[in-house]
Amino acid sequence: MPSAGSKHKVLIRSAKIKKRVQEVAREITRDFKGERVHLIGVLKGGCIFLSDLIREIDLETSLDFIAVSSYGKNKDSSGQVRLLKDLDSNIAGLNVILVEDILDTGLTLSYLLRILRQRKPKTLHVAALLDKPSRRLVNVTGDYIGFSIPDEFVIGYGLDYAERYRNLKDVCILDPQTS
Ligand code: IMP
Ligand code: MG
Repeated sequence: MPSAGSKHKVLIRSAKIKKRVQEVAREITRDFKGERVHLIGVLKGGCIFLSDLIREIDLETSLDFIAVSSYGKNKDSSGQVRLLKDLDSNIAGLNVILVEDILDTGLTLSYLLRILRQRKPKTLHVAALLDKPSRRLVNVTGDYIGFSIPDEFVIGYGLDYAERYRNLKDVCILDPQTS
């Protein structure tokens, strides 16, 4: 039987992702030397990146999750962002790093930054595994980016299409024949 993702073209292989995640974690470890970082994973897509990233960070850490409305079955953003699950704890005074799967239009990120800033963290940064700069509708940037990619709809390593394919080890381009 072919594997779940075999018909999709590989864009970034798992070994390359692993190496880059280690590099990003090293940058974070260096930038926050002697401090604690509080990672906030954006569910659901950011959970795989977060779980690999946090284990490579050599600092005191804590983590939490937040969930926002996703694209549902569509490949394009509705432009509307809705909070589905809030944080469990207060972030005032913490070095917060928001961990996202991908920066696309930037609508999700600008919404999250707005609501998190109001809660007075000590610092607020963004780590995203992927960035599609050509798709940006609002002016936001990530502080720690894994890879910049072209305007393709990608799946795997946490990213889904209609909730499928999050388990692929590689980041792949969704086969256009997929229903
Ligand atoms: P933004 O608000 O348009 O920046 O979109 C961010 C969210 O859209 C991400 O956290 C993903 O859940 C989803 N998304 C954007 N591009 C892709 C993609 O190529 N594949 C899968 N999900 C995507
Ligand atoms: Mg999604």
